[in-house]
Amino acid sequence: MANKFYITTPIYYVNASPHIGHSYTSIAADVLSRFKRRVLGKENVRFLTGTDEHGQKIQKAADNAGLSAQSFVDKTSRQFVSLWEALDVSYDDFIRTTEERHVKLVQKVLEILHKKGDICEGKYEGLYCTPCETFWLESQVTEGLCPDCRRPVERIVENNYFFKLSKYQDWLLDFLKGHKGFIRPASRYEETLRFLELNKLNDLCISRPKERLGWGIPLPFAPQHVTYVWFDALVNYISAVGEFDSRDNYHSEWWPAQLHLMAKDILRQHTVYWPIMLRALGIPLPEEVFAHGWWMINEDKMSKSRGNVVNPLEMVEKYGLDAYRYFLLRDVPFGLDGNFSEEGIIKRYNSDLANDLGNLVYRTLTMVEKYFDGNIPDVDLNGFKDNQRVSVILDKIQQVEPKVHAALDEQNFSLALEVIWELIGMANKHVEETKPWNLAKENRHKELEGFIRLLVEVIRSVSWQLEIFIPRTALSIREQFGSDKIKKGNPLFPRIDTKKK
Ligand code: MSP
Repeated sequence: MANKFYITTPIYYVNASPHIGHSYTSIAADVLSRFKRRVLGKENVRFLTGTDEHGQKIQKAADNAGLSAQSFVDKTSRQFVSLWEALDVSYDDFIRTTEERHVKLVQKVLEILHKKGDICEGKYEGLYCTPCETFWLESQVTEGLCPDCRRPVERIVENNYFFKLSKYQDWLLDFLKGHKGFIRPASRYEETLRFLELNKLNDLCISRPKERLGWGIPLPFAPQHVTYVWFDALVNYISAVGEFDSRDNYHSEWWPAQLHLMAKDILRQHTVYWPIMLRALGIPLPEEVFAHGWWMINEDKMSKSRGNVVNPLEMVEKYGLDAYRYFLLRDVPFGLDGNFSEEGIIKRYNSDLANDLGNLVYRTLTMVEKYFDGNIPDVDLNGFKDNQRVSVILDKIQQVEPKVHAALDEQNFSLALEVIWELIGMANKHVEETKPWNLAKENRHKELEGFIRLLVEVIRSVSWQLEIFIPRTALSIREQFGSDKIKKGNPLFPRIDTKKK
């Protein structure tokens, strides 16, 4: 295993505002980055995100907004930057495909592959969906409609440049057969393998004539064409972290990536086009491509055209950032689709955050205040181990971190959080069973000290683990349980009264 961690999100299209789906991938990547920074050291983690700014969709959106493409993308790209800031997404680098570092490297890639004979001129005839910027096979189109967005496709014939995907199909199949872990979850691996076994790859049309579309990176050997947006976009993963030398060898201190994260909608680009592009360039492949599921709204896909997109900032304003992050990470196993609803958030909020975590923190603060004047009892818990309940909880504290790390190594956020919540649940149960108010009444001072100290240890351990997922809450807990004296604040997650709502 590498002792560095380079993780990427997709670079998002800037034709529309970001929604909860985009925020999901970025928050997931944020959690994994925070985790790896802890394990490997901050300097050994690189978290890349960015925006995909070329292509027809964006040109169109700019036209509609009455702006030049460049000023349009400057404006919309900023929305992503400020969203990530608002959501505590701790990226290290933000790449825009209109930046010079990227444009230069894409042109270099095109040149190398052209020289090598892997990019050739040819005629393209096909059914094209403009909004999706995708050519479809006759067999994929029914009733003249795009299989993806259900809008009409157009027949187009034009001179173009093609990348020889087909030449590498056998190699890719062999590679995948030997590297089961390259695509996860396993269902996505199987899907890709089946696709390659059942279909002959067509060469990929990687250019667009300038007269049809001007907003793109010009091909260095055919400047009357610009680069197809997907071919341009995938290169961001290497253009952000390295360069080619004069002998066309690529150098980077970060590449290969340990993980490309995305949703299942763009799996094929990352598991077919991208590996072949890298192979043709003589560059090693990333270690893993993980495609998670979709957040749906009432079982329907979220999209601008369906008018059902949810703005993450609105959710954050209503429920708080950490409740939002927690819900996304906890509610649905990573890899599966999930249904997004405010009722869902409120349910998680009231049960897990208010009742379990918030209650444990608040009742412990209250007891430290009431029984010990705000001083955290300074006792050695080893002296309390013959109490069965105490020793079970102490053991559990020890087990949490390795379990959380094992879960995160498999991108299993919901499991990691479940493990932390088991400890929270045990501590709350311990309070109910021990009945500290009786200990106080009966003047069993030593026991009460041990009891409170144990709760504080649980809370400290929980906040340390939670810092990866919900950093603000973790910080607030840490501040309230400072060193030897508590600083009680307001309840972390005041219950949401659903009746009032
Ligand atoms: N620009 C391309 C990606 C190029 S990467 C080299 C693109 N952009 S996108 O803006 O459409 O973003 C797609 C990604 O956004 C998905 O793969 C996923 O990461 C995220 N999501 C968009 N909608 C989503 C849901 N409804 N649910 C979960 N994630 C979603 O494709």
